[in-house]
Amino acid sequence: MSNFKKRTHTCGELRASDIRKTVSLLGWVDRRRDLGGVIFIDLRDRYGKTQVVFQPQHNQKVYQQAKELRSEFVLNISGIVERRPEGTENRALPTGEIDVRADELKILSKADPTPFPIEGEVDAGEELRLKYRYLDLRRKPLQENLIARHRAYQIVRKYFDEHGFVEIETPVLMKSTPEGARDYLVPSRIHRGRFYALPQSPQTYKQILMVAGLDRYFQIVKCFRDEDLRADRQPEFTQIDVEMSFVDEDDVLSITEGLMVRLFEELKGIKITVPFARFSYKDAMERYGTDKPDVRFGLELVNVSEVVAESNFKIFADRVKNGGIVSGFVVHDGVSFTRNQLDNLVDLSKSFGAQGLFYLKVTSNGIESPLEKYLPKETLNAIKEKMKAETGDLLLLVADEWQKALTVLGNLRLDLANRLKLLKEKKAEFSLVWVTDFPLLEYSEEEKRFVSVHHPFTSPKLEDLNLLDEKPEAVHARSYDLILNGTEIAGGSIRIHESGLQSKVFKLLGLTEEEAGKKFGFLLEAFRYGTPPHGGIAFGFDRIVMLMQGERSIREVIAFPKTSSALSLMDDSPSEVDKRQLDDLHLRIK
Ligand code: AMO
Repeated sequence: MSNFKKRTHTCGELRASDIRKTVSLLGWVDRRRDLGGVIFIDLRDRYGKTQVVFQPQHNQKVYQQAKELRSEFVLNISGIVERRPEGTENRALPTGEIDVRADELKILSKADPTPFPIEGEVDAGEELRLKYRYLDLRRKPLQENLIARHRAYQIVRKYFDEHGFVEIETPVLMKSTPEGARDYLVPSRIHRGRFYALPQSPQTYKQILMVAGLDRYFQIVKCFRDEDLRADRQPEFTQIDVEMSFVDEDDVLSITEGLMVRLFEELKGIKITVPFARFSYKDAMERYGTDKPDVRFGLELVNVSEVVAESNFKIFADRVKNGGIVSGFVVHDGVSFTRNQLDNLVDLSKSFGAQGLFYLKVTSNGIESPLEKYLPKETLNAIKEKMKAETGDLLLLVADEWQKALTVLGNLRLDLANRLKLLKEKKAEFSLVWVTDFPLLEYSEEEKRFVSVHHPFTSPKLEDLNLLDEKPEAVHARSYDLILNGTEIAGGSIRIHESGLQSKVFKLLGLTEEEAGKKFGFLLEAFRYGTPPHGGIAFGFDRIVMLMQGERSIREVIAFPKTSSALSLMDDSPSEVDKRQLDDLHLRIK
């Protein structure tokens, strides 16, 4: 027996065709209006809202009871479905043609006044929303996000199943695998002084599953990284993790493209075309100033190094002579930028790390620029020609080391796109591009050694193998990133499948044989027993759902996210633990 009448319908279900039916509804009071002589409430559940009417002439007892109702009380209502009086229908609501005239009311749970209103868009601060996450999650936008996320899981599972992939769970307590971030560690009670790490990704396991002959693996899996957080980064996040045997880059890319097509079609009803555009890392940097290009708008960078290399202006000429670059982009109709606005752009560029920003205005009287003092008219015109600028345009230029100059311009490009509202006029709502041909290694000034651009298991390009000893910085990787609207949503590579080459790469990364053995001996050993060539990819599941739902932060698509300082405000974790627990783990707090 239950203390309420089971629901006959959800709060989103009743239509004109249900008029005169006796129904029982269960839900929360969304809104209550007491018009004196008649009380209306909107009863809400996950499926929608239904208007319920209490009138003394209809049922005096229930009307009196209804005076007590407040927002977020949980109710059981029984009554008769009736057509709303003409002129009072709510076309915006699927249930808007009807209401329910209450005959019975049972309050199943009362509610304190909530710290912020549940209905509509809340403007409560995020901290408050996270502390009372269960209230925040009652709101429609967040419920829609979680439901879209649920649908995405189902689509992913179905897709990979159809393509012969096996879903396999890998351990959460594992040996640390470096993916570039700090590990979350779990002390062992049984083995004093030893630690498990939470997976930054299941990278080593999925490769070992290929050695084991599973051929095609996928998993929707939690990963943990102790790194600086941003709007699209959480300390624990979800990957769709994939690995395949006997494949090359094209196989992984095409399986990935197929999944994206499916997700867009089924979640958004959007047909996207494949194959996606591919940019080499070098091209992406030189055209967009980033390895995550947002190609929905122009402002493409143009390299003008050649035009200024021979000039008398030392800042440009020396930069090019020393292997640097002079590059920039055109802001159409930018001549109207005021002196103040231009000074702002210069300051902004400096905040991005530039030494300076040069600008030229192409006016009907010719080129106006502080550079006129240093460069002859012909050179200024040659810059204008090279950048295909026209009267009315503003040209912005940066001279610096290749990476620095391009990165500053990439940031400036995004900033200007926002200022000029270019994204509002964007060509497509969603743009997916591949970035490939990354360098295998980059030199870390901080660590004074080479570090992997992707991870240590990524294969060098076969045609670059002969450069590994002499010129490791020039070796390209067999890796690829997938970019959606300027956000990296997936990354992967073809792996090294041979212990000799893997040992060599470990060595280039500054690992001694002993260290490599200690950290990855199990993988090197596995490779000795027959390893298929293999490769894979991992998708940032939270990021994909965020972008598809038009959200700006992955916190909006995660049920219980952490703050940017890795706190869970609702349950107050991390929290202190008892001394006894620490003793068990052989730990002492310094
Ligand atoms: P990678 O480190 O590129 O590759 O991660 C794959 C994808 O995961 C997402 N991602 C994150 N999302 C939210 N919060 C984070 N802190 C976070 N970090 C990463 C990104 C990224 O593209 N094992 C390799 C994959 C492989 O080689 O197959 C890996 O983890 O969208």
